[in-house]
Amino acid sequence: MKWSPFAVVTLLSLPVSASQVEVLHWWTSGGEAKAVEVLKSEWAERGNQWNDFAVQGGGGKSAMTVLKSRALAANPPEAANLKGYELDEWASLGFLRDLSPMAEHLGWYPKMPPMVRDTLSHNGTLMAVPIGIHRINWLWLNRAVFERLGLTPPTDWEQFVTVAKQLKAKGVTPLAIGNEPWQLTVLFETVVLGEGGKAFYRKAFLEQDPATLTGPEMVRALTRFQQLRDFVPEKYAGLKWHQATNLLESGGAAMQIMGDWVKGELSAGNYRPGEDIECLPSPGSAGLFSYNLDSIAMFKQRDPAQLQAQGELAQLLMTPEFQARFNRVKGSIPALSQPDMRQFDRCAIRSYQDFQQAEQGGNLLPSMSDGMAVPTNMRQAIMDVLSSFFNDPRANPEQTALQLERAMRSTRSGTGAEQK
Ligand code: GAL
Repeated sequence: MKWSPFAVVTLLSLPVSASQVEVLHWWTSGGEAKAVEVLKSEWAERGNQWNDFAVQGGGGKSAMTVLKSRALAANPPEAANLKGYELDEWASLGFLRDLSPMAEHLGWYPKMPPMVRDTLSHNGTLMAVPIGIHRINWLWLNRAVFERLGLTPPTDWEQFVTVAKQLKAKGVTPLAIGNEPWQLTVLFETVVLGEGGKAFYRKAFLEQDPATLTGPEMVRALTRFQQLRDFVPEKYAGLKWHQATNLLESGGAAMQIMGDWVKGELSAGNYRPGEDIECLPSPGSAGLFSYNLDSIAMFKQRDPAQLQAQGELAQLLMTPEFQARFNRVKGSIPALSQPDMRQFDRCAIRSYQDFQQAEQGGNLLPSMSDGMAVPTNMRQAIMDVLSSFFNDPRANPEQTALQLERAMRSTRSGTGAEQK
């Protein structure tokens, strides 16, 4: 449907009645669910009704499968948490409502940091509204464990391995992680950043340069990644990210590498981020910021009541007040320019400062593991290669680098979306 500014005005001024929206998301862990509660309650305070369409599973893979079947049955929800390349893919297929007339009419663009606007734009349309910025390259560390054992937090991967060996010798699991492919991919992404730096990361994932993907630096990153297999929990098969965080909180594990949704979980369990659990850039990545932008897209609808409900939801999501409340609980930072960070915790304040510096210094990097850097098929292919590699102690890094390049090349066409 093509919108004229006139249509927007008309729609925004329809008589007020209770609006209903069904919203797909996968925010089901303790901290995530609390963040969704913030949204639900603000929506309800405005006299509206919320139909929760929550699909379990960190990283959202199951949610995306369910969404596809609903869309194929011509019955998509009004709204969904869709992000990065998934947005481009759904937009190319013609499913998403273009929010640019609203954005222009309501003056949203100047409120969006350039990265946010770029990520959400597709051929001149606005595909979604931003909700929060998560940082991926974080190292979470149990301070009491480190103090008790007299250990110094690692700032590069060499130190990480040294500290991990010491922890293991003392009977503490060094690295809280489960064997889900997406969790392993988060870890690998941070290894690539820390071992190879920004230029290597860009060449490997954004340019998908064959020589870089198969070269010595990639082999080194894979070798390091494989080395970390020694430090995972004994029962790591099936461990969810938030269960890994619980292990970190209890001191059963000393460190976790994960996006800052971890922080939502900490607060839900009354652990103070930046105090009980320290937040540091993942080893070797100080100054870099790999981002994951959460956003809500609206599926095309015909019914004026549904269209109106979508418009109202989008407007609520775009308010600084809502974004401050939501992101304080979710662990992310607001996705609007110049947010008021006064009531945020230490890690969020650090995240925002680092975000700004990275923005100015050209050090913002789209997260590969979270669907910001490569199309969905390619990301899936990468995850498959990485998880077989990590789980096979005899796997060979040189051969795996070749497999990685091949897997990425084979998914380069027919993704349904053009490369940005
Ligand atoms: C990400 C999502 C985050 C967080 C995480 C774990 O994909 O963007 O908001 O919830 O999954 O479920």
